Amino acid sequence: MLSRGAASGRALRGAGRAGGQPPPVRGLRASPRARCAMPSWVIDRYGRNDVLRFTRDMVFPTIHFPNEVIIKVHAASLNPIDLSMRSGYGATALNMKRDPLKLKTMETEFPLTLGRDVSGVVMECGLSVSYFKPGDEVWAAIPPWKQGTLSEFVVASGNEVSFKPKCLSHTEAASLPYVGLTAWSAVNQVGGLNQSNCSGKRVLILGASGGVGTFAVQLLKAWGADVTAVCSHDASTLMKKLGADDVIDYRSGNLEEQLKTLPLFDFILDNVGGSTEKWALDLLKKWSGATYVTLVTPFLINMDKLGVADGMLQTGVTVGSKTVKHLFKGVHYRWAFFMPSGPSLDEIAELVDSGKIQPVIDQVFSFSEVPKAFLKLEGGHARGKTVIDVIGKK
Ligand SMILES: NC(=O)c1ccc[n+]([C@@H]2O[C@H](COP(=O)([O-])OP(=O)(O)OC[C@H]3O[C@@H](n4cnc5c(N)ncnc54)[C@H](OP(=O)(O)O)[C@@H]3O)[C@@H](O)[C@H]2O)c1
Repeated sequence: MLSRGAASGRALRGAGRAGGQPPPVRGLRASPRARCAMPSWVIDRYGRNDVLRFTRDMVFPTIHFPNEVIIKVHAASLNPIDLSMRSGYGATALNMKRDPLKLKTMETEFPLTLGRDVSGVVMECGLSVSYFKPGDEVWAAIPPWKQGTLSEFVVASGNEVSFKPKCLSHTEAASLPYVGLTAWSAVNQVGGLNQSNCSGKRVLILGASGGVGTFAVQLLKAWGADVTAVCSHDASTLMKKLGADDVIDYRSGNLEEQLKTLPLFDFILDNVGGSTEKWALDLLKKWSGATYVTLVTPFLINMDKLGVADGMLQTGVTVGSKTVKHLFKGVHYRWAFFMPSGPSLDEIAELVDSGKIQPVIDQVFSFSEVPKAFLKLEGGHARGKTVIDVIGKK
């Protein structure tokens, strides 16, 4: 939820834009048929890439709440969560969130549209939306319990949406919201770092060459941190270009031993998970508020395996015991998650427009190539983001 302060700040910015904007764009829904159906990539069951299906008859999104907007999608991008959701990851928790009281007559999440990022144009606004108007160029990351952005149109809550950075094309902008908000949540909301307390802090980023990592390196450098990036050798030039102070190749020998030769860290962002947890916390300064934040958690898997109640209980026990264990050793252990937030995207847009953060795009695919884009992501070794140009003609 937006705080009152944040809400009024956003209202001011919206009011400032209203004067010089081109007239609202109406009539994007060209034919009576288009009012009820739209082109979309959907899945009708969970599985491998062959479950992806293109349809021209996906139900057109409708505004159910007065704070919602419908966005015409110009570009989208893929994240590891799209691969996982394609295979059914998180279905238990996400279905509970979609229909907590089980009121829906259709007892299924299908057809389900994947894709979390959107850059596009506002087409229609709910009655209480005053911050945006039709024709505004916006970007957003749509939470995973809602229909996704691999579609001609998507509906989002106004609180999830922000004005697109002026200096970026839609294709560039679509690469940033989900990874940007995830990094923002991990570094700022969970890690407690910000522009005024980050200067000179020693930060280690494990898995720095992917979507989240390339964003986090730039964010922490913009805030004055001393950043050590861990990635494969072939990503080291990119890391240096993004501003990393030290780059460590995790394939060139024992990573733990290499990192132990460096001065201790104030903050670690772990985008890799697994065995890293066993040794990474020993690299933190003790009894100084130093924090390890991981993005790789069993939160949704626990609920898939054990059901909602037992899964949440298991999650609570796991995170609680690890937090206490590390607290006794003088360091903080935390989990972080993607958090949808228009106000945080506003702050990210300012960093982008001031040249402090640039999109890092691995490859752009056309809308007809969505299955190919999923295969690319599945192949791993991301160097930034895989983007889908939804309105391009190819
Ligand atoms: N908790 C949440 O809400 C949340 C949100 C977003 C993402 N995540 C998770 O965070 C992780 C990162 O996301 P992402 O979008 O940045 O993924 P991504 O774009 O696929 O990037 C992963 C990067 O890590 C590198 N890598 C793989 N193994 C590594 C290792 N052992 N050491 C260092 N680098 C390694 C990969 O390149 P090479 O293999 O070539 O080295 C790749 O560049 C994923 O596991 C994702 O599921 C969680």
